[in-house]
Amino acid sequence: MDRFAIHGGHRLEGSIEVSGAKNAALPILAACLLSADKFELSNVPQLQDIRTMQRLLAGMGVKLVRDGHQMQVQADAVSSVEAPYELVKTMRASILVLGPLLARFGEAKVSLPGGCAIGQRPVDQHVKGLQAMGAEIRIEHGYLNARAKRLHGARIVTDMVTVTGTENLMMAAVLAKGTTLIENAAREPEVVDLAQMLVQMGAKIEGIGTDRLGIEGVEELKGARYKVMPDRIEAGTFLCALAACGGRIRLESAHPASMDASLEKLRDAGARIRCGEDWIEMEMASRPRPINLRTAPYPGFATDMQAQFMALNALADGTSVIHETIFENRFMHVQELNRLGADIQIEGHTAIVKGVAALSAANVMATDLRASAGLVIAALVARGTTTIERIYHLDRGYEAMERKLQNLGAQVERLK
Ligand code: EPU
Repeated sequence: MDRFAIHGGHRLEGSIEVSGAKNAALPILAACLLSADKFELSNVPQLQDIRTMQRLLAGMGVKLVRDGHQMQVQADAVSSVEAPYELVKTMRASILVLGPLLARFGEAKVSLPGGCAIGQRPVDQHVKGLQAMGAEIRIEHGYLNARAKRLHGARIVTDMVTVTGTENLMMAAVLAKGTTLIENAAREPEVVDLAQMLVQMGAKIEGIGTDRLGIEGVEELKGARYKVMPDRIEAGTFLCALAACGGRIRLESAHPASMDASLEKLRDAGARIRCGEDWIEMEMASRPRPINLRTAPYPGFATDMQAQFMALNALADGTSVIHETIFENRFMHVQELNRLGADIQIEGHTAIVKGVAALSAANVMATDLRASAGLVIAALVARGTTTIERIYHLDRGYEAMERKLQNLGAQVERLK
């Protein structure tokens, strides 16, 4: 298993390109199941999770040709409607094929995702919404077996804001008979990106970007050419690294309009930030100020940025309080940060972070994708050489992270 060795204490200087968004590319790939036509996707990030989605679709008979960040996809000869346990257990987002398969083929067999490092993460809202649209869903031998002659429109109010739940229901509704109303819908930019691709395919969706989506089903959808939006979490992670290390960087191919909550918090921490439509420049010249956070659905502060900001707060000039409201177990990085000399205590869903003047290198273990990103940030400032084990978690969601950090002057090495 690969490890990172990070020699901390270097300022970050330079410019990097932000990759395409993992959490937009995954549902967009699943949406290619909705038509027999060809899709030409660009800005598809090169990540382990994307490869898992490719394998999942290829196993169903979908043709996929990848050329760098371009991908051609065609689901004109689908021979299986199954998402097997072996793939779903490595990537929960596999559940995203449920809605499209059911809508186009009238059946789907998708393994139930099991437990997950960051929380229980049930899929009851996906199931309830599809049932309201007329699907018959049974759980047998760990699989969701779903059937429907043709889905019909329904009014669905989800119990909580769910990102992939909204995406699944939206992808089912676009081919259903009649109108579907999804209330309490997720407004994440990645949901918007998927909706825009569906519209290009001929879907009729109103209320895109709001918590009330009105979808009028159509008989058939066509292929599309689509460019995946930039990854706001990757961009935010690099900005947090800069806020911790000090220096000045420029992010190209970014989408600052989707990053208000993070950019505001970085300004509160002391960063100077300038943005254009697709670039961000940030300078950090002082020790970070502590910032209080409460994770929330978009446009609130993203749970996917919580660990990175915690690493920053660990070094701040004072004490901060972080509330995690989305996932019940998303503080696994705390123990590892404390091994690097941080002073963080957890009380229920709250972390109290007392900033320390310096961190010191240690061997630490990555536990999930964003937790690992928090550890990388801490290691970039810790005195000495930190090794981070199990960085396969990082490879799931950060494209060429070590190369990008090296470009900014960080000393990061991948050890095989
Ligand atoms: N929930 C339910 N029932 C459901 C669906 C969700 O109880 O049927 C709960 C979850 O357990 C959680 C909350 O609702 O407590 C929100 O979960 P959501 O469904 O929004 O999460 P997700 O769709 O499974 C996506 C991202 C995550 C990101 C969350 C929250 C993708 C592929 N994944 O997950 O990204 O943290 O939304 O914004 O889009 C990551 O990239 O590292 C990552 C974990």
